[in-house]
Amino acid sequence: MRFDVITIFPELFESPLQVSLVGKAIDGGLLEVEVHNLRNWAPHPHRKVDDAPFGGGAGMVMAPGPVVDAVEEVRRPGGRVIQLSASGEPLTQAMAAELSQQNQLVLVCGRYEGMDDRIQEILGSQEVSIGEYVLAGGEVAALVLIEAVARLVPGVLGNEVSLAEESFTGGLLEYPQYTRPADFRGHKVPDVLLSGNHKLIADWRRQDSALPARSSGGPEPLPRGAQWADLGAAGPVGLGSGTPCTVRLSSFCRAQLARVNLEAPAAGLLAPTRRHRAVKSRSKGEQL
Ligand SMILES: C[S@@+](CC[C@H](N)C(=O)[O-])C[C@H]1O[C@@H](n2cnc3c(N)ncnc32)[C@H](O)[C@@H]1O
Repeated sequence: MRFDVITIFPELFESPLQVSLVGKAIDGGLLEVEVHNLRNWAPHPHRKVDDAPFGGGAGMVMAPGPVVDAVEEVRRPGGRVIQLSASGEPLTQAMAAELSQQNQLVLVCGRYEGMDDRIQEILGSQEVSIGEYVLAGGEVAALVLIEAVARLVPGVLGNEVSLAEESFTGGLLEYPQYTRPADFRGHKVPDVLLSGNHKLIADWRRQDSALPARSSGGPEPLPRGAQWADLGAAGPVGLGSGTPCTVRLSSFCRAQLARVNLEAPAAGLLAPTRRHRAVKSRSKGEQL
């Protein structure tokens, strides 16, 4: 698979593309990544790629000419063009999997106040965001996308079995992982993992996979102003008339609650749904 990146800061890509999984995949010929300096397509003598916005307003805008020329030159037949943009479609594991099937991705990194809107219109590019925050430029976002996509390209990960069990694959977040020592400062690894019983371990892992992951059909973010009652439909913890229980809240779940300023209700109000199993005996559990 091939990535072509268009940026005014090619040097930002140097070390991230040399190390670890992506670096090895490039060395091994599984990935090709070429980083192009957008200024090579900018008019002389100043190689300017931005201009003031029509209609006034703060900052500068990336002009269409250099970007369109650059993409048209590096794009190969069938190549997909992605513009990194805070207001784009959110990057998810499902999107990464789909993108990993492509032969070429051309990634355009914005700077300044963003890109002239006609760039997207002319190139038919997809706008992709890596999260609900604003970065200074698209370079870090492009690196995130490259890494998320690259590790799904066949052969890039040493152990492809691990892909099947990862968070967001198969609709759940990954179960908790532990390594030696079995007792670290009094925090113990669950007994079942030390039992050597593969069936029990597999069952435990299945039951302890956290809430459905949003990108693969799981709950949408809760709207602001949501109430506890809304959680029954939207996850992360089902409301039922069950017995008092202990529920492990993942960080995703906590983030969901924080977004809508919800506090945990009094002990004993919640029962887990079948999918959000109670973890009664686990030290990480939290009494609700
Ligand atoms: C300072 S930002 C422009 C922000 C723009 N004025 C807005 O309000 O959405 C400059 C560039 O950073 C990149 N960028 C910023 N936040 C991003 C995000 N969350 N995901 C992907 N790219 C982002 C985009 O390429 C964008 O054109």
